[in-house]
Amino acid sequence: MAFELPALPYAHDALADLGMSKETLEYHHDLHHKAYVDNGNKLIAGTEWENKSLEEIITGTYNKTAVAQNGIFNNISQLWNHNQFWEMMGPGESKMPSELEKAIADSFGSVDKFKEEFAAAGAGQFGSGWCWLVKDADGGLKVTKTENGVNPLCFGQTALLGCDVWEHSYYIDFRNKRPAYLTNFLDKLVNWENVASRL
Ligand code: FE2
Repeated sequence: MAFELPALPYAHDALADLGMSKETLEYHHDLHHKAYVDNGNKLIAGTEWENKSLEEIITGTYNKTAVAQNGIFNNISQLWNHNQFWEMMGPGESKMPSELEKAIADSFGSVDKFKEEFAAAGAGQFGSGWCWLVKDADGGLKVTKTENGVNPLCFGQTALLGCDVWEHSYYIDFRNKRPAYLTNFLDKLVNWENVASRL
């Protein structure tokens, strides 16, 4: 079964007052995310990956040197990454649930320290990629950054929060100011209830 582009969990203009415009979501979801879905489906057709889950394809093709497999990894991992990304944001006020606040304080000292580390990871990712809040195999939380489509599944980690730092994610609204995009993401766009549900 071919993968499908999931609908955004909110209207295209729902995040406009929070710093992510309708135009950004039209390009980012309707065109960029859709391209990963279409290209991923094309590349897995007729291969051993055709009937596998996104997670199986990602872990099975990560770091494989064959060109065909790299293309599969790049598109399928970006398909999965964006599926998570839309769910991790939302309109309206979002208060961080206490169990998440405690887990973050245990690992980073405070929510502010975590935000500082997360924003620094995103700003410091050279070129395209993502920054993440992950739960490690030992249960501890940490901040990571990854290049291109690489994601926490590749390292056996659970993705709690991810921020897309490809230019297509912020250039319409923030131009070249990636740090401002990251701060705005953390302060206005994150759906903390969704993040907590991944703990
Ligand atoms: Fe993206």
